[in-house]
Amino acid sequence: MPRIRIKDRDTIIECKEGKSILHAILDAGMELEHACGGVCACSTCHVIVEEGDEHLSEKSFDEDDRLDMAEGVTLRSRLGCQAKVHGDVTIRIPDKPY
Ligand code: FES
Repeated sequence: MPRIRIKDRDTIIECKEGKSILHAILDAGMELEHACGGVCACSTCHVIVEEGDEHLSEKSFDEDDRLDMAEGVTLRSRLGCQAKVHGDVTIRIPDKPY
């Protein structure tokens, strides 16, 4: 089963193949903001992928467009609700400015 290492929380969780980063985190009993409920209509689930981006589903045009609204976007940014996990990844959850 793929694993998600959440670097800033010093935690590793397991994730069912094909599940989104957001749902894997929520299922593990942890928090990740998701104001729109995971339908690519906000950007509060913004995460930064530090390793293993090749193990995530491809970024859609809609995700890319929505990411433009997030604070601190990098080339490694993803929306947790849209990125589906197919192998081990390491992520960081950026601090929110509010
Ligand atoms: S939860 Fe709103 S875009 Fe991911």
